[in-house]
Amino acid sequence: MNLFRRKKVADLQAEATTDQRLKRALGPINLVSLGIGAVIGAGIFVLTGQAAAQYAGPAIVFSFILAGLACAFAGLCYAEFASMIPLSGSAYTYGYATLGEFVAWIIGWDLILEYLFASATVAVGWSGYVVSFLKDLGITIPPEFTSAPYNHITPSGAHWWDLWQLFVHGWVHTGAVLDVPAMLIVAVITILLVIGIKESANFNNVIVALKLAVILTFIGVGVAYINPHNWHPFIPPAIAPGEFGWSGVLRAAGVIFFAYIGFDAVSTAAQESRNPRRDMPIGLLGSLGFCTILYILVSLVLTGIVNYKQLNVSAPIAVAINSLGPSLAWLVYFIKIGAIAGLSSVILVLLLGQPRIFYTMSKDGLLPPVFSAVHPRFRTPWLAQILTGVVAMLIAGLFPIGLLGELVSIGTLLAFAIVCTGVFVLRFTDPQIPRPFRAPVFWLITPLGAFSCFFLMASLPADTWARLIVWMAIGLIIYFTYSHRHSRLHHGLMGKTDLPRE
Ligand code: ALA
Repeated sequence: MNLFRRKKVADLQAEATTDQRLKRALGPINLVSLGIGAVIGAGIFVLTGQAAAQYAGPAIVFSFILAGLACAFAGLCYAEFASMIPLSGSAYTYGYATLGEFVAWIIGWDLILEYLFASATVAVGWSGYVVSFLKDLGITIPPEFTSAPYNHITPSGAHWWDLWQLFVHGWVHTGAVLDVPAMLIVAVITILLVIGIKESANFNNVIVALKLAVILTFIGVGVAYINPHNWHPFIPPAIAPGEFGWSGVLRAAGVIFFAYIGFDAVSTAAQESRNPRRDMPIGLLGSLGFCTILYILVSLVLTGIVNYKQLNVSAPIAVAINSLGPSLAWLVYFIKIGAIAGLSSVILVLLLGQPRIFYTMSKDGLLPPVFSAVHPRFRTPWLAQILTGVVAMLIAGLFPIGLLGELVSIGTLLAFAIVCTGVFVLRFTDPQIPRPFRAPVFWLITPLGAFSCFFLMASLPADTWARLIVWMAIGLIIYFTYSHRHSRLHHGLMGKTDLPRE
């Protein structure tokens, strides 16, 4: 059996033009907005303050620049691939064209961590903000219905190579029943996504506008209250490895990497884009660049108006505004509403991306046909969408944000590293293919991209590595028992225009 057979890029390009079942409704603005919708979320609204307080102080700004740089390398590679192979499978498809079916499967399976698990992670953050907002209004939901029943504590004395112990031991029951609000938001957004791509994109545009209004107001109002004393020292002296000093800046970069996740979701909408060859790079790099600038400004203002030590809370931006006195109380409400709306759009885009990756994997025969069923009226991959929604609901209901967030980050970094490697390989194996967008100085950018992703992966804890390895092992079992045997490439069906059964 040949695990490394590649799909021909020409076949993929033909597939992108012949398969018109998904609706081509999105232009460049929609795509940039989709990217911003996926990116600005729990990372900036929750994690920035915690990372500043625990690891980096005001130098969190440098952490944002470092993580942004790693994403920029990966973003350039995504842009090259997405304009060259505009299919909805994203990194999975790129892997198939460059490194072969086996690696493609590994990426596809890994992307479930980035999309499905990330949507659940952000739903948990959403739940936290909603509960706090309702509390401000005098409505209290019993805590056993607003938090996760399970958590994991690293078993003491476990070594990083003792995977089984790290994976199986250390689970604790928190006493809670389920995180009900987190489950509800996933259910509502899933229904919206089944109904239609255009409706979903419009809903997303409105929310993105509100989210940006909140962030820009925070920057605009906050700038007037900056007290430069809070920036001294800008890089607080190290107190332990990973806590302040430059090693703290690096560790914080690993944590706030989560804030950038999602810009690549733009590439999953390639088959719903009107002119993907031109607009994919605009959507990917436009949203990434825009968010990087906003993040740097927010972190400067945030650490300028309060001392970083006060930011270890679940709503740091609201806390910072609160510290400015009662005259700005209205702004706190505005920020919470904006955060709630903003987190919803992140969930929306991530839940939108996952079934589109399943759709492509199913068309290749690696997943059962049910995953590529398109609804006759709504023209969305509805069954895959519902399945994604149900699993995401369960995960959001059962596990806490910290555990999920780290797993999402490690999975995404792995996918980014493989994409960077793929761009490098394809420049040598298929140099003649027209590339509407080319990553500049690829011989430098692509290895730097892969290296920086592995570097950030290394900063994540051993139990997260154990979960990644177990997840990948499950994927391998499915590949060898089902996917490889049903692969259309394996059966010589690739490039045929008969599209799969609906
Ligand atoms: N980048 C997204 C967020 O911060 C996943 O919520």
